[in-house]
Amino acid sequence: MKKITLFLLFLFSLHFFAQKKINLPQLGKDDIKKVVAALSTEEKVSLLMGLGLGNFKNPPAGEKTVIIPGAASRTFAVPGLGITPAVFADGPAGLRIQSQRDNEKQSYYCTAFPTATALASSWNSELVGSVGRAMGNEALEYGCDVLLAPGMNIQRNPLCGRNFEYFTEDPLLSGKLAAALVKGIQENGVGACIKHFAANNQETNRHNFDPLEVGTGWHRETGNPVINAVISQRALREIYLRGFEIAVKESHPITLMSSYNRLNGFYTSENKDLLTTILRKEWGFDGIISSDWRAGSDATAQMTSGNDLLMPGCYQRDALLSALKNKTLDIKVIDSNLERILSFVMKTPRFKSYPFSSKPDLSQHTIIARQSAVESMVLLKNSNSTLPMKGVKRVALFGKTSYRFITGGTGSGEVNYSHAVSPREGLIDGGYRVVKPLEEVYEHFIDTVLSNSKQENKKYLVDFHPELALSKEFIARQEGLSDIALITIGRNSGEGWDRKEKDDYVLSEAELSLIRNVSEVYHAAKKRVVVILNIGGVVEVASWRNDPDAIILAWQTGQEGGGALTDILKGDENPSGKLAVTFPFAYSDVPSAKMFPGEPKENPVNAFYNDGIYVGYRYYNSFHIKTGYEFGYGMSYTNFLYSDLKLSDTTFNDSIE
Ligand code: GLC
Repeated sequence: MKKITLFLLFLFSLHFFAQKKINLPQLGKDDIKKVVAALSTEEKVSLLMGLGLGNFKNPPAGEKTVIIPGAASRTFAVPGLGITPAVFADGPAGLRIQSQRDNEKQSYYCTAFPTATALASSWNSELVGSVGRAMGNEALEYGCDVLLAPGMNIQRNPLCGRNFEYFTEDPLLSGKLAAALVKGIQENGVGACIKHFAANNQETNRHNFDPLEVGTGWHRETGNPVINAVISQRALREIYLRGFEIAVKESHPITLMSSYNRLNGFYTSENKDLLTTILRKEWGFDGIISSDWRAGSDATAQMTSGNDLLMPGCYQRDALLSALKNKTLDIKVIDSNLERILSFVMKTPRFKSYPFSSKPDLSQHTIIARQSAVESMVLLKNSNSTLPMKGVKRVALFGKTSYRFITGGTGSGEVNYSHAVSPREGLIDGGYRVVKPLEEVYEHFIDTVLSNSKQENKKYLVDFHPELALSKEFIARQEGLSDIALITIGRNSGEGWDRKEKDDYVLSEAELSLIRNVSEVYHAAKKRVVVILNIGGVVEVASWRNDPDAIILAWQTGQEGGGALTDILKGDENPSGKLAVTFPFAYSDVPSAKMFPGEPKENPVNAFYNDGIYVGYRYYNSFHIKTGYEFGYGMSYTNFLYSDLKLSDTTFNDSIE
């Protein structure tokens, strides 16, 4: 009898809980407010943040923290209410996830596209849109819900370490190209994320911690101040916010990332004026706002300012729970942020159970990567029609970067691609012979640099290693074996630190003497010299550009750069890139040079934007300052002639012919 009673009791309770589960509101079926109301306080707080940087030492109970290995983070799930997790992955030059997984044969390579700085030189929003579509397709098919791109801060100063990840010095061009990329990405049904909102125009003291091991997600406070950008309202609106405004209104990004820095005294992720009054109320932004990774300091202030999601998350939980408990944070604020987060979740492929294949169309994307690289390159000099190469069979390739092209910058903007085409490989594929003794010297040099290093990650070792010096005698021997000399000058930079003026913005002595000596030897033999700039941000050019016959600004053009460069050198493609950033005549001419990266110089607390609205060409044009190469400059193989120009009027009133 007893057993029957117990069994009946068990059946009843099963029925009761099943009934209860059936009665639970479901996201997508029931009103979002009902779903929010059905959440416990712990679940609510968990949904306001990510689950950390993957394989946390103490993941939330029962949660498998990593869904897509190598993604930047993921959000919490509440299966009983139909709330699925969302996977956020970098970055602006292509999807960044781990290319290999434990115990899996399949690889997960992604396509490395040209960086934003390079794409901006194309001025071609259709092309940028096609890159966005390809990037978004890789995010979709590899199971990600948000691609943390584009980066679109204004290039205020050449030394900013992340300029490669940003488009331009001009807010209109920045907004238009960002909007094109967002539309392309979001056509796949995945979210884009415009970043870093706002005024994140340097890396020095951008935040105040060092990530320990990525896996733990824990950080060590550095004791540094977090830089405070001090900007006038006019400069803020017209220069630093304007691009974001255009992108929000023209492409409706599903997410936006606030930045690390402070702005006029407040962390941007804790700044209600910025995130609610301007972004939401004035511009009509209807997506969700995520913090940058471990940005800000006061989780309550982030919630009340309207910064919905805290990434990578997981360590503000206690702070929020106690704020709710002691009533310093109103649950209504949490609920309204959650409503936005849940309506975001409903837009994600994961919520729609999209059956991702893990097989995006990488071969098609390689074609887009090459075409976009071609259109990003800028012909800066071409005296005596040196280019396209004529009667050339044998090419002497100088410069270490000729053999290891730099595809993009370092940090979260990296892409784990399967293969990058160097100028050497591109030229050989293009039917040219590359001078062997010279190639062997560089390959040996590169091998030595790599083998001598104890560093585990050798990916960028050669990029940051000083250039190999060559004697004139050795150069003369190469001249005898070649029809033309190509010298590649490489520059890399990345997230977390700013560039230097010496041996970085200004070429090193080894690079300058290489250009000088090769030019002397080849010109004496009536042969030509071409310099290729494989750089992520502008460099000094005035002191050396008279030496070579031609200069191609290749930028960092993704994995297909070497092939795209060959297309241009051969004349299969006509260079059409135009500068979207000024090359100053000298660093001291840069309007922000005196105050970058802030005061006090040794450990900046405040960055005073005394340059105001005079950023880039707005300064050089307004005050008639000579530049190295001006905004909009770029040659092609076509000669243009203007003649008999007449104006309908001497003053411009609405229109002029
Ligand atoms: C980084 C970057 C941001 C990136 C995020 C996730 O710190 O500032 O651009 O998307 O963290 O990796």
